[in-house]
Amino acid sequence: MLWESAAGERASRPDGDLTARIENFRSEYGEQTLGIGTTSPRLSWMIQADDPEWEFDRYEITLSREDGTAESVIVASGEQVLVPWPFAPLRSRERVSLRVRVGSDDRWTLPSSSLEVETGLLEPTDWSADFVSPISLGGLDGGAPIVYRELDVAEKPVRARLYVTALGLYEFAINGRRVGHDVLTPGWTAYQHRLRYQTYDVTELVTQGTLTLSAVLGNGWYRGQLVWPGNRSSYGDRLALLAQLELTFADGTRRVVDTDAGWRACTSGILFDDLYDGQTTDLRIENDSERRQSEPVEVLAPYGGTLVARTGPPVRVTETLPAARIITTPGGSLVVDFGQNLVGWVRLRVRGATAGERVTIRHAEVLEHGELGTRPLRSAKATCEYILSGAPEEVLQPTFTFNGFRYAEVVGVPDLRVEDVEALVIGSALERTGWFESSDPDLNRLHENVVWSMRGNFLDLPTDCPQRDERLGWTGDIQVFAPTASFLFDTSGFLAGWLRDLAAEQKPDGGVPYVIPDVLRDPDPGAAGWSDAATLVPESLYRAHADRGMLSAQYSSMRAWVDKMVTLAGDDNLWNTGFQFGDWLDPTAPPEDAAAAQADKYVVATAYYIRSVRAVRDAAKVLGFAGDVVRYDDIAIRAEEAFNREYVTDDGRVRSDCQTVYALVLCWDLLDSEPKRSGAARRLTELVIEADYRVNTGFVGTPLILDALTIAGRIDLACAMLLQRECPSWLYAVSMGATTIWERWDSMLPDGTINPGSMTSFNHYAYGAVADWMHRVLGGLSMAEPGYRRVTIRPSFVSEGTPVTAARVRHRSPYGDIECNWQIVDDVVRLSVSVPYGVTADIWLPGDTKPSTVRSGAHRFEAPLAN
Ligand code: BGC
Repeated sequence: MLWESAAGERASRPDGDLTARIENFRSEYGEQTLGIGTTSPRLSWMIQADDPEWEFDRYEITLSREDGTAESVIVASGEQVLVPWPFAPLRSRERVSLRVRVGSDDRWTLPSSSLEVETGLLEPTDWSADFVSPISLGGLDGGAPIVYRELDVAEKPVRARLYVTALGLYEFAINGRRVGHDVLTPGWTAYQHRLRYQTYDVTELVTQGTLTLSAVLGNGWYRGQLVWPGNRSSYGDRLALLAQLELTFADGTRRVVDTDAGWRACTSGILFDDLYDGQTTDLRIENDSERRQSEPVEVLAPYGGTLVARTGPPVRVTETLPAARIITTPGGSLVVDFGQNLVGWVRLRVRGATAGERVTIRHAEVLEHGELGTRPLRSAKATCEYILSGAPEEVLQPTFTFNGFRYAEVVGVPDLRVEDVEALVIGSALERTGWFESSDPDLNRLHENVVWSMRGNFLDLPTDCPQRDERLGWTGDIQVFAPTASFLFDTSGFLAGWLRDLAAEQKPDGGVPYVIPDVLRDPDPGAAGWSDAATLVPESLYRAHADRGMLSAQYSSMRAWVDKMVTLAGDDNLWNTGFQFGDWLDPTAPPEDAAAAQADKYVVATAYYIRSVRAVRDAAKVLGFAGDVVRYDDIAIRAEEAFNREYVTDDGRVRSDCQTVYALVLCWDLLDSEPKRSGAARRLTELVIEADYRVNTGFVGTPLILDALTIAGRIDLACAMLLQRECPSWLYAVSMGATTIWERWDSMLPDGTINPGSMTSFNHYAYGAVADWMHRVLGGLSMAEPGYRRVTIRPSFVSEGTPVTAARVRHRSPYGDIECNWQIVDDVVRLSVSVPYGVTADIWLPGDTKPSTVRSGAHRFEAPLAN
């Protein structure tokens, strides 16, 4: 079919090229092109084409090598997301340039702009460097050591690459200039199995003459406190650096500079560093290398795990926020308010101090009675201390710690000025892909709070909270939040990497630890909702990104977990034994017993069992494992029968009769008859009305409750619950001034005191899982086929009773931006939808019994609200 432009002219160029444009040509998981960890990166691109009917049926990828050779491959396919690498596998350090064009009927688009891809060190034998560690400096109670060496470079290289990692954290510099912008490198993985290395282009930094290579080493996750106070050295007690600087000169010769026995170690100005407790920095030493002691290093035994390139984005400073105001507390302290609860560092500029003066900064998420509320931090000291050098102007900023805070108390700067303080927001530099706004400002704030909680807790791994003595990769939290997360940001590489750690940490019998990386080290882990991260996070990721490769990589881990549950469920097909977190932090749970819940924990466990077995069955379908499809379908059917027999009455009453159990059975379609389904829907409705639309669910029920009401045909009740302001509710926290999602419904009590429970974080994304419903149902944009190949546009106005009069939701899918924007004016719905090339959208308007289907372009609809 010839492509015709909107004006009806044939839209071809004189050279015969189609005028559709290719954009966002990318490899694997996005922006990273240097140091990729695969020989065969998959490729994706977006297409801008005005004609919705035009379809390409082939693509051509051209690869150009540095030696001037090139090759092209034409593939007869209309795919554009994660297409397989069509060339011979790349070798380590290989750099190629790629272009793509697509075509049909012998017409081609213009080629895309070029994508440079360079592999990292892919084989263990590529590493000639050894890990080097200081001998006596930088011991467990010492400060952060520096390892360094000098070298003479006779000629400036044409290319210089640094491959680097550490046991502990590192900050690398060449001639005192910091390499790259990443922070808290190499991040946290299951170190005993997988350790990430980074690749940097340091061509600019490597000059002719004498060069100093140096790296400061911090304790970080490797050797600092983790889990409980004083629990240190989870992975080892020696910090070490592994670095390989590879220089290529104009004549093609190469020189490799490795960490080896020739390096030395010395002290740094960082006297103390810990993720929970903070950092103490002596700027006198920091600024004066003469003050440092020095010694040789020792070469350590080779690392036993695998060195891996990153798949997700690095941790960086993603934003700088000015201080909002400075408060003098009732007790006379100076406290800076940043106006936003965030994760990162305080940066403070000090002038005219005397050498040896001290400045102390303590952090907190909230104020209580006007003073810094540090009780929720539990044992974490969250304190940064600086000993000033007396330079005319000094900038105070830590390196090897991070804090969750909105408020910072500053001691030692009596003339503190608001313009001298900033907050540096740090986190994984994920690409934002999801936006929501509505006619209700409180809902917009709630949504912002979800985004901020995600930003704070997606710090190299998905954590529960970023401030107290925890900050762990709790599996249950990300399991419930993954669909929301994958809408808001591009999580594809970030979570795919974390899932590799999950698989690596899984027990031989399939048991899945409650935190990944597993520092709890429970010998026999397995709990519903938490361990189900093994099955349900890959499922969410596959839905969002259509990443079959990730699904295939996780499949044996998914299956192993489900097979373990089969054993746990035993002959009666009910998982009704053993430890469970259950509907964690149900609002009726007393402060000191977060697991006490209204929902029967074994109803929850068997429901999750069925849910995960089905997830494996569905993954088997995608991957073409026909035998497994039959096997897991059969297991699911038997478990459903057992569930109905044991826990459900004929009229749909579910054991423990509370919001969460009805949410489970309705959302996961667990009931085996229509009378049961309508009975359960009725009962849920009654419970929600009796509760005056207050939320009565914990971690398990919260992501589902509004969907359950939607399935029950009561979007009006779902909206009433979403808009409820009395505790427990989402907007209660907003009405109390929250700027992130709280861990418990009443982290802050109505009288302004902090909940006395030990689980009282103000930055936990789990309850923020409601944003998924806001995107899909209230906003009306939901994915109907993996990767958003097909979407459903069906905003809540389709049902009666929503008090929200306008909403706009946008998602940057693998194909491009999809937007749904609606408003109700004088009982008329106005809907505009924009659909990128490659996506089909089914649109529902009030009164529709079937959708109208549209393809790429901007579409507008108007319809009377009443039906
Ligand atoms: C964490 C939770 C986690 C829970 C499980 C808590 O301490 O903060 O979010 O899922 O433990 O027990």
